[in-house]
This record gives sequence, C-alpha cells and structure tokens, in this order.
Amino acid sequence: MSIWETNVYAKGRQLNRYPYDSVVSDVFRWSSGRDRADLRVLEVGSGSGNNLWFLAREGFQCAGIDLSKTANKHAKKYLSEDGLEADIRLGNIADLPWEDNTFDLVIDRIAITHNSLADIEPMHDEVVRVLRPGGELISVMLAWGHPAHRAEVEVTHHAFDHFSDPIFSEAGLTFFADREDIYQLFEKRFDRFECKKMVSLSEFDQVNSAMWHIHAWL
Ligand SMILES: C[S@@+](CC[C@H](N)C(=O)[O-])C[C@H]1O[C@@H](n2cnc3c(N)ncnc32)[C@H](O)[C@@H]1O
Repeated sequence: MSIWETNVYAKGRQLNRYPYDSVVSDVFRWSSGRDRADLRVLEVGSGSGNNLWFLAREGFQCAGIDLSKTANKHAKKYLSEDGLEADIRLGNIADLPWEDNTFDLVIDRIAITHNSLADIEPMHDEVVRVLRPGGELISVMLAWGHPAHRAEVEVTHHAFDHFSDPIFSEAGLTFFADREDIYQLFEKRFDRFECKKMVSLSEFDQVNSAMWHIHAWL
C-alpha cells in the first residue's frame, strides 16, 4: 500500500476539489486554438481528481493514474456527480496501462517528484511511450535548495524521507532535482524542453519554496 494512501487520503486529507492554478494556465496555453474534443490528456499521480475534474469540464478527453485506492474512488465519485468522465486507473506511473502513442499531453504536478531518481527514469520512459509524436509533458518538480530538505538526511541521490516539516513527512520519499538532474531526465528523451525554477521568497528574502516548471516536447 502506498504512503499516500495510508498517511494522506485514507485519513481524509488532500481530497482536493479544485485544480491547481498552474495546471489551469498551462492547459489553457497549451490548448489555445485547438479542438479540445480531439485532445487526449493524461495526468500521472492524479490524486483526488481535482485537476481531472477541470480537464473533463473543459471538454478534453482525459485519463489519470494514481497508486491510491481512496484517491481514485474520490476522483471517480467527484467527476460522476457532475456528469463528467475520465479514464481513472489504479497503478504505478512506471507501468502505464495505456498503449503507445495515446496522449497529446501528460501532466505531472508534483507526483513523479515523490519517487527516487532511479525510479523516476523508467516513469519518464513510460510517459514518452504513451505520448503521440509531437506530444508534450508539463511537469512540476521540487527543486534542490527547497527549505524542506535542508536539515534532513539524504536517503538516496537528492531524495529525503522523515521530514520535520509535517506537510512533507506525510508524503514520504521526495526527490529535489538540481539543474543537472533535470537535464539527465529530459535531454535524452525529448526533442527540446524548457525549465524554469520558481523560487518564492519571504519578505526578508528567505526561500519559502523552490520548484521546477518543465515543459518538454517530443
Ligand atoms: C502531491 S500529490 C499531487 C496530486 C495531484 N497531481 C494534484 O496536483 O493535486 C502526489 C500524487 O502522486 C501520486 N503518486 C506518487 N508516486 C506515484 C507513482 N509512482 N505512481 C502513481 N501515483 C503516484 C500520489 O499517490 C499522490 O496522489
């Protein structure tokens, strides 16, 4: 059973209903001028279905996968209550249950980053396999230098567990990518990619959070 199932969703936490602002703006920018009914979007690590609800409402054909049974059950119920449809599967991103060349866009919002770099490599192979030629991946990953990992013990390359920050401690193993890690993951698999490091500072210029926003094209 996954740590997200036991520590988070089964306790009724993070059963979010509304999409993240970055997903909304990324999807609107990506789909501008295109016929949504023809576009297939997969969210990996789709959690409670909050982003899928938005995608389905906006007329995309959408699919999601997550390791958590409770999150998937919530997602299916939440969408069906509003008469919306999505192909939601229980499973691991490392073994996607869809055929090659199925999707136009894959969204990863802070899901893949909750795995070790060694486990992320095959997940990216799977994402590339299910994307159509010309398909795109939009990914948000935690960045090296984020305050959550600073005082913690590294378990494996740039990955930490047992955080003192309660938000991170319930999520289990978390990988914080530096620029070299991002290039290692994206350069060999995608035709081109753009990455931006989004750092949020306190009024006293202390780092509150650090994340990568990555857009990759096949
Ligand atoms: C921070 S939550 C994000 C949920 C959703 N993407 C969002 O933006 O609200 C991370 C999600 O990724 C899922 N996850 C992490 N690793 C996974 C894996 N290897 N396979 C499937 N799901 C995974 C977790 O179960 C959890 O639901």
